[in-house]
Amino acid sequence: MKQVELRKVLMVATFFCLCLFVYLYWKQSSGPVQALVFSYNHIYTPRRNPLPPQWTWLCVNQRCERRQLQQHTPVTSLATCSMLCGSTQLWPQPTGPVSLGSKALLFNHNQLQYDSVASGPAQDLIQDAFAIFNNSVYSLVQNSEYANEKTDIRKFLVKVSVANGDIVKLKFSTDESYKLVLKAHGAEIVANITAKTYFGARHGLETLSQLIWWDEYANNIGGLKVLKGATVQDGPAFPYRGLMVDTARNFMPVESLKRVLVGMSANKLNVFHWHVTDSQSFPMVLPNVPQLAKTGSYSPEETYSPEEVKALVEFARVRGIRVLLEVDTPGHAGNGWTWGPEEGLGELAVCVNERPWSLYCGEPPCGQLNPENPKVYDVLEKIYRDLIELSGENEIFHLGGDEVNLECWAQHLQKTNTLSNYTDLHELWGEFTVKALGRLQHANGGEKVPNVIVWSNKLNKRPYITKFFDKESIIVQSWGASQWTDTPDLIADGYRVLVSHVDAWYLDCGFGRWRETGEAACDPYRPWQTVYNHRPWQQMHLAKKQIIGGEVCLWTEQLDETSLDQRLWPRTAAFAERVWTDPPLDLSTYSIQEDVYTRLSTQRERLAARGLKPESLWPKWCAQNPGMCL
Ligand SMILES: *[C@@H]1O[C@H](CO)[C@@H](O)[C@H](O)[C@H]1NC(C)=O
Ligand SMILES: *[C@@H]1O[C@H](CO)[C@@H](O)[C@H](O)[C@H]1NC(C)=O
Ligand SMILES: *[C@@H]1O[C@H](CO)[C@@H](O)[C@H](O)[C@H]1NC(C)=O
Repeated sequence: MKQVELRKVLMVATFFCLCLFVYLYWKQSSGPVQALVFSYNHIYTPRRNPLPPQWTWLCVNQRCERRQLQQHTPVTSLATCSMLCGSTQLWPQPTGPVSLGSKALLFNHNQLQYDSVASGPAQDLIQDAFAIFNNSVYSLVQNSEYANEKTDIRKFLVKVSVANGDIVKLKFSTDESYKLVLKAHGAEIVANITAKTYFGARHGLETLSQLIWWDEYANNIGGLKVLKGATVQDGPAFPYRGLMVDTARNFMPVESLKRVLVGMSANKLNVFHWHVTDSQSFPMVLPNVPQLAKTGSYSPEETYSPEEVKALVEFARVRGIRVLLEVDTPGHAGNGWTWGPEEGLGELAVCVNERPWSLYCGEPPCGQLNPENPKVYDVLEKIYRDLIELSGENEIFHLGGDEVNLECWAQHLQKTNTLSNYTDLHELWGEFTVKALGRLQHANGGEKVPNVIVWSNKLNKRPYITKFFDKESIIVQSWGASQWTDTPDLIADGYRVLVSHVDAWYLDCGFGRWRETGEAACDPYRPWQTVYNHRPWQQMHLAKKQIIGGEVCLWTEQLDETSLDQRLWPRTAAFAERVWTDPPLDLSTYSIQEDVYTRLSTQRERLAARGLKPESLWPKWCAQNPGMCL
């Protein structure tokens, strides 16, 4: 085609598009406005006159069997059958003795009454916990008219006794154990929860909520049921049971983080590790260094204000969770750090957005703090001060320290003619870390933070580790593959470890690659069975007392709030039983008991009832036919 003709064709095409655009625009503004908000409520409106039920469940050999409902046969819902037949349906499974009754009582939520025995500031927290528990029970109700129907009892008393009412902040040493006794006395049922601390009592309420369910067949319109009797003694296997969410690759609104915390509390997880920032963005507004978010967030809307952070920390605390804020440095820091020259502080970060990125960082965009600029440490101290103040947390601190790229620093030092000062740039990295730790102590009012977590990296491997890291206070979050020697070496060298092995506990993997170059994906997907069956202390014979616990990690290059719930649940629940109960593995088969499938499926339903959108475990047929899908 000649050029002139081509131009003509293009002009006609452009004109046509323009007309189409005008037409569509006119059509849109004259017609009814399309609803852009997709509301699930419109899809799942319960039907007013549903068909009569067709199934009933029968307990045969400790397993519920689905049967076609015949006339005059007794009807038992799956939920009621499951609760009364064999398995406990508790998740995570308690670590102490459990005995559960085999009968159920009908009640309604108006019969719930609350009583607490505690002194000190825990009293207020217990009231909050009652309200949360009360909501959890109410969230099970599928038909509000049920409350007019007859019940088996007149009163359901929930009584909580906390021995030490002064403990209202979770620490490593906090006793999270509890005892729950559920007993019927005539027309009254009493749940008696006793615990050393509020945090144990709260777990007890969580367990109690799992002994309550909605029976869709009760009174023909549905009803709430509770086990007629139960005794549960319970306490966690590990003091640190964490979940990390990254809010820098993609922003997660506060409401979505609340859902994360609700899911965590339902599974007795206790540390929300918030990887706030990264080289892509800096979404948190820090009162002493507002420039970071101002220049580093994706937009003014995609930020967390100090008030929001504090409210979230409180939301977490009443749910038995502490919030660990992490601003990763010196690597993984770029966007948000470029205002130094303008304010006379010099270059705070180097290699920011540098290309080709693969030379200077693990994924685009690059960026690393400038270790030579003394002002960097002043800014760090301000950041640390803010993080401690916002989270109220100074028993643990996460220093970051992930994936420092020495090539980036070498390039920078070459420019400033100081490269010859170092024969090994790990020395420079070590100096940075020592200075950062000093600033952390300053920021903490001169007191050393007793537990500082750092990501596993070259500097905390042999031979550097003993030179720069103190065994008493440093905890290494070991994220390398479980076959690597990192974890056993750290244990052998006397360090405490937080386990986050990438091959088992990285929840972001398995969704393909998001860029053309470099090793972008960490495939394959880690199914819940892989998450559940990871028990490195058994598999690698590690000293359990040096392992403070585990943490699943969700990096967010390929998700935002729209798929947050599905990525986390139910896999994080599977992880929760690993670190709360820590059941032994059968290393010859790695097979998972039927009971685990059934209980996890039930737990998934609970999460859905609380407003989360967990992924499905299997076809519903498998839930309706326990044991038939294994
Ligand atoms: C429990 O929930 C019900 C229903 O939402 C409500 O009427 C009642 O006041 C709540 N009680 C407490 C103690 O929160
Ligand atoms: C609750 O349990 C505690 C400890 O087991 C016991 O001392 C107390 O009497 C119990 N209270 C009720 C009302 O059963
Ligand atoms: C590094 O080298 C430069 C130039 O060679 C020198 O002026 C400077 O004092 C050295 N700095 C340190 C910390 O040794």
